Amino acid sequence: MAKNIIVALDVGTSTVQAVIAEKRKGEENPRVLGVGVAPSRGVRRGVVVDCDDASSVIRTVMDDARKAAGVQARSVWLTVGGAHVSVSSSRGIIAVSRADGEISPEDVKRAIAAAETFIPKNPNREILHMIPRDFRVDSEAGIKDPIGMHGVRLEVDTLIVDCSRPFLKNLFKCVEGAGLKVVDYVFSPLAAAEAVLTKRQKELGVMLLDVGGGTASFMVFEEGVPIHAGVLPIGGGHITNDVAIGFRTDVDVAEKIKLVYGTCLSGELPRRENIRLAEFVEGESSLYSRRELAEIIEARLRDIFELLQKELRKINRVSLLPGGVVVVGGSSAIKGILDLTKREMKLPVSIGVPQEFEAEDEEKASALAAALGLVRWAGAREDAAGGLWLQGRKFGDFSGGKIVKWLKAFLP
Ligand SMILES: Nc1ncnc2c1ncn2[C@@H]1O[C@H](COP(=O)(O)OP(=O)(O)OP(=O)(O)O)[C@@H](O)[C@H]1O
Ligand SMILES: [Mg+2]
Repeated sequence: MAKNIIVALDVGTSTVQAVIAEKRKGEENPRVLGVGVAPSRGVRRGVVVDCDDASSVIRTVMDDARKAAGVQARSVWLTVGGAHVSVSSSRGIIAVSRADGEISPEDVKRAIAAAETFIPKNPNREILHMIPRDFRVDSEAGIKDPIGMHGVRLEVDTLIVDCSRPFLKNLFKCVEGAGLKVVDYVFSPLAAAEAVLTKRQKELGVMLLDVGGGTASFMVFEEGVPIHAGVLPIGGGHITNDVAIGFRTDVDVAEKIKLVYGTCLSGELPRRENIRLAEFVEGESSLYSRRELAEIIEARLRDIFELLQKELRKINRVSLLPGGVVVVGGSSAIKGILDLTKREMKLPVSIGVPQEFEAEDEEKASALAAALGLVRWAGAREDAAGGLWLQGRKFGDFSGGKIVKWLKAFLP
């Protein structure tokens, strides 16, 4: 029998990752068969700027993943991230169609389609997700699943995640240039959330925070539903650049210094602990203060937390997420990041570890969260791409119209 293979590809600013998994009948989660990871080229702040470079890295990671998995695979699911992603909201209102007032899946679809008509048309934007946050049936608000309820008027409030269409097309071009076919694509933190957040955290209220190389992206969940999200144009690469400037070294050396001696808790370091440059560059005799290094790292991370607090203020959730902040991404390995996040966000904090890898190599697993989550996302929805999901059930394909491509509203 042919294996049901799922491939997830995450083309990031710092790393390109491919995960090949197999979905077996009767098993909830796909099993990871092979992983390929390589340093990225041709990507800036999550956006492809050199297609040939990016394509060649994609080829490499796919070859590695295929070799490890022992399967050939050409169809891939993609994560979409980058500072060109933006988030907004829209409302749609319809009259319930059945004479007895019972709300059908068809009504929900129409309400979401109505919300779409209020989004300003822009040929340069592509909608990634339209997520129903909340429904109102007549005067009753705060309803998560209105199907089967009775009413006259159905109103939906949707979270819209969209991105630059030219940038998305460019990403497709690179992926196709590497001999692959795109099945579908998912906003990166939504995929990462699938790997590391529990149902309970999503119910309570939680922020998934992915601190990568060129960006820090987040998604906030409450009552099981994404309620806010965004991409900030700051990541580990900016920290490295700051170190290079502060220490007057080139960026490759700065990156090494950051990885070996970096921490973000400057207050905990003695004043006189020094880093010898000779350890990284032969023949150099300079000494750098480790505390100064920590101050540089801490300053950039504080910038991220300040922006995140601003985002939480927009939705009135400052210090109000009992599920806390769950951090993933390559930069989640910065020493002390848990303590600093806790202090700055005034919330419980943990590192998000995808279960597939368990404790074996948490750092590595956390950096792979988006790709591993995407495999799960795909496994749960593979045969229903383009359909609408509500409270775990799928109802209806939006086949036959332009609406198909983007009316991808999902609830866990
Ligand atoms: N041990 C570590 N300590 C500090 N930083 C680290 C460590 N390991 C990796 N990083 C940083 O993680 C970043 C890469 O993270 P990741 O692979 O998640 O980025 P990406 O997904 O390619 O980027 P983006 O999502 O922003 O497009 C780099 O800046 C790297 O320096
Ligand atoms: Mg990333």
